[in-house]
Amino acid sequence: MNWTREKLIEAYIDFFKKKRHKEIPNVSLIPREDPTVLFTTAGMHPLILFLLGQKHPLGKRLVNNQKCIRTTDIEEVGDENHLTFFEMLGNWSLGDYWKKEAIEFSFEFLTKILKIPKQKLTITCFKGDFKNHIPKDTESAKIWQKLGIKKSQIRFLGKEENWWGPAGKTGPCGPDTEMFFQGSEIWNDVFMQYNKDKQGRYKELSQKNVDTGMGVERTLAVLQGKKSVYETL
Ligand code: GLY
Repeated sequence: MNWTREKLIEAYIDFFKKKRHKEIPNVSLIPREDPTVLFTTAGMHPLILFLLGQKHPLGKRLVNNQKCIRTTDIEEVGDENHLTFFEMLGNWSLGDYWKKEAIEFSFEFLTKILKIPKQKLTITCFKGDFKNHIPKDTESAKIWQKLGIKKSQIRFLGKEENWWGPAGKTGPCGPDTEMFFQGSEIWNDVFMQYNKDKQGRYKELSQKNVDTGMGVERTLAVLQGKKSVYETL
């Protein structure tokens, strides 16, 4: 397959529709629903209320492709895989499936649809935050191993690397497991089960959510055999 941006997006949306996800549209780069950020930095902003427990009209499984502006890693922009503006594909579980299904979906899409050999992937999982009583994520590592990822391909990392959110100072967040191809993170599955409050405490959310993010430009670079996102066609 000669992968293009359009084909990758279509393949992702179709894959998750077949897994009973409903597609939601890309929203404005100026967020309407989330006052904690200046720009839409991820697909989660229009979904905050639903991550907090409100019922989404389209159900508990959603899929989208969201344009994002991210400035937190601006110092790295200009290397081979950092951009301030990018597109992110995401599948969402709003209190529906959890780690097993999320990781199985990621594995199936990467290896069966995109045909990336599993031995070329490196996986990271959360090593735990004992100060805040958040445990090491051995569950995700075991799921990856059951799928055929070797122990030597999996690393446990801390909050700097394997934790996502909140996007602003408060809100939904959680540990993630990340998928790398030759050192470039192409996808993360975030297990959003906490809400960070104003005091900086992590409280369990009323429901366990999954928020995944696949970088379109980075994944396209892999599929087109390019070293840099700036070389993708
Ligand atoms: N899925 C979370 C993010 O990378 O923005």
